[in-house]
Amino acid sequence: MSIEVIVLAAGKGSRMRTHLPKVLHKIGGKTLLDNVLDTAKKLNPSNIHIIYGFGGAEVRKNTLGEYNWVEQTSLLGTGHAVMQALPSCNDESMVVTLLGDMPLLRIESLEEIVKITENNEGISVLTAKVLNPFGLGRIVRNSNNDVQKIVEEKDCSESEKNITEINTGVFVGKAKLFKELLAKVDNNNNQKEYYLTDIVAIANSLNIKVNGVVASCAEECMGINDKVQLAQAERFYQQRLCTEYMQKGLIIADPNRLDIRGNLTFGANTFVDVNVIIEGNVELGDDVVIGAGCVLKDCSISNGSVISPYTVIESSKIGEKATLGPFARFRPGCVLENNVHVGNFVEVKKSTLKNGTKSGHLSYLGDSIIGENVNIGAGTITCNYDGANKWQTIIGDDVFVGSDTQLVAPVEVGKGATIGAGTTVTKNVPENALVITRAPTRVISAWSRPTKKK
Ligand code: UD1
Ligand code: CA
Repeated sequence: MSIEVIVLAAGKGSRMRTHLPKVLHKIGGKTLLDNVLDTAKKLNPSNIHIIYGFGGAEVRKNTLGEYNWVEQTSLLGTGHAVMQALPSCNDESMVVTLLGDMPLLRIESLEEIVKITENNEGISVLTAKVLNPFGLGRIVRNSNNDVQKIVEEKDCSESEKNITEINTGVFVGKAKLFKELLAKVDNNNNQKEYYLTDIVAIANSLNIKVNGVVASCAEECMGINDKVQLAQAERFYQQRLCTEYMQKGLIIADPNRLDIRGNLTFGANTFVDVNVIIEGNVELGDDVVIGAGCVLKDCSISNGSVISPYTVIESSKIGEKATLGPFARFRPGCVLENNVHVGNFVEVKKSTLKNGTKSGHLSYLGDSIIGENVNIGAGTITCNYDGANKWQTIIGDDVFVGSDTQLVAPVEVGKGATIGAGTTVTKNVPENALVITRAPTRVISAWSRPTKKK
């Protein structure tokens, strides 16, 4: 059967207290809407309709992919929102409604409710049993446990307020049934809105079957209305990912102190310490150690590498058995071969460091190609920028760069050359040469320092 998904994303999200449309807030580095859409796509629907309204241009600009965008010009409620998409739905399609502020929903729950609807016909509503139902639509069941109606918080009687089974906002049924039921919804309620939830009572009055499907995990049904719920949802999301990764073998020091905002892959026996942030696509090999507080974005780190605390790596490729940090920074475009060491307070940008090269302390290596087994002394700077253009530094294999060296690019140092400490290299150095630009040391005996004026 063909499935069509309708995602409601037109609301402003006033309770967020910001100009940013609610569905553009992020969970796991991805907008609420993209989270919902990624789950929706796993149903293989023939169409995904997105109802947009508030901040429409911004929402569309930040949501890439093929969708049927349907504008809701006045926000008259969730029922009204769904009605906007129905004319583009095939009567025989199975329609699934999703709320754009429900990013944690799992595909398993969606598949289950679709299957139940196919088997039982009628319409289905996904419900959840929660500890605190405040603010949510309550599921009213009769003595046979059939779902009778859904009552919104603002329309609840005192006894209905005690009901802890709530509406998640996910409804499933044939498009033609949605059309028939929604045509009968009015706005006679405390919010003067056309509620999607009213289709339940209307279906009952027409003897159309209503299936109440309780979600196995209440957290996944959480709707995000304010910043407190946003932070709670982020934690649930992270815990869920960490559980999955730990089951696949990743060693995580504390799953409450790891943030994954993208995709992580890893090999065997790899360890991630506390307060690490993973962004974009990050690949870790076998036996990798990521120290506390590291930030890794779009990078790969090969087998046996140890990244010490507070190292930041962006858009770079790190080979095997590297020892990096603590406090090292890799900006985009770095390629490190195997057995490279980069220590504290070294910044590397758009540079290649070949096998066995070391830069232990306090240096800047930018726009450079550095050969094998090179030793970069403390305080070495590649002067890559002349105020207008960027230039390259090329250093051959086995070069020894003394401490406090400046390499004024463009410049090339041949294999096996030695650069004396404190040298400013302004021209190319041949292989195996010594280059030094150091003023001779003068020693003056019995030197008397100036004294302070009285
Ligand atoms: C809604 C449900 C409530 C349910 C809760 C679950 C209704 C009437 N209420 O309440 O039963 O327990 O979700 O989280 O359905 N939207 C539009 N157009 C509109 C109004 C809303 O597109 O005219 C969108 C919003 O952008 C949002 C979603 O629908 O993504 C839900 O709207 P929201 O105002 O958050 O509904 P709740 O009050 O949370
Ligand atoms: Ca909501």
